Amino acid sequence: MYNSRNIIIGLVIFIGIFTLPFVFGIGKKNDAPKLSLDTPKINELEAKECIEDTDFMRSNHMKLLSEWKVSVVRDGNRIYVSEKDGKEYEMSLENTCLDCHSNKEEFCDACHTYAQVEPNCWSCHVGPEEVK
Ligand code: HEC
Ligand code: HEC
Ligand code: HEC
Repeated sequence: MYNSRNIIIGLVIFIGIFTLPFVFGIGKKNDAPKLSLDTPKINELEAKECIEDTDFMRSNHMKLLSEWKVSVVRDGNRIYVSEKDGKEYEMSLENTCLDCHSNKEEFCDACHTYAQVEPNCWSCHVGPEEVK
């Protein structure tokens, strides 16, 4: 005769082991990557701020970069005026974004790896590690 108590215990253990990886997997997914702001340029800033609000940058930097590209390549306009405080910046991936975020690997790449996006800009544009 089967012992129904043992079967239930067995089932509970089986379901427990089976679902554990999912439970832990979900926990991992929710851990946002740690983004380092520890670069010479950012350390020099009085206010540790991006060219626009952080929330805006987080969700719109890709759009902004593509607007910059169009502006430079099509219109020859290289000056970006911040909507936040009217400061002017050169519209440049290398000379502006990566000047402050010179730790591309711990900043841009860390977040992109987490979000599973691979911007293919670096075949033409130079990343900071290649600048001599
Ligand atoms: C096939 C080569 C190529 C690829 C790939 C590429 N670009 Fe460019 N990009 C250029 C060239 C050429 C210019 C014009 C350079 C100039 O006039 O200063 C440019 C200019 C720009 C500019 C304005 C000037 C500057 O120096 O930054 C931005 C911003 C830009 N690209 C962003 C991007 C982004 C973001 C990506 C990835 C999504 C990307 N590009 C991928 C070739 C490329
Ligand atoms: C003057 C220096 C400077 C420049 C130039 C700059 N950043 Fe930033 N950026 C910062 C600082 C400092 C922060 C952190 C702001 C905060 O923590 O509130 C930041 C935050 C960000 C964030 C949000 C990170 C997060 O916590 O989610 C993104 C995305 C970003 N920057 C992308 C860019 C891109 C793309 C460019 C070029 C178009 C750029 N930054 C230009 C200094 C700069
Ligand atoms: C807080 C996280 C985060 C940080 C930090 C971040 N990115 Fe992104 N980036 C994303 C996400 C998420 C996407 C994809 C968004 C989408 O597909 O709509 C993206 C997309 C992009 C794209 C467009 C890719 C494409 O193929 O269309 C470019 C270009 C880009 N990021 C450049 C940068 C640069 C340069 C930096 C560092 C200065 C940076 N990002 C920092 C999260 C981040």
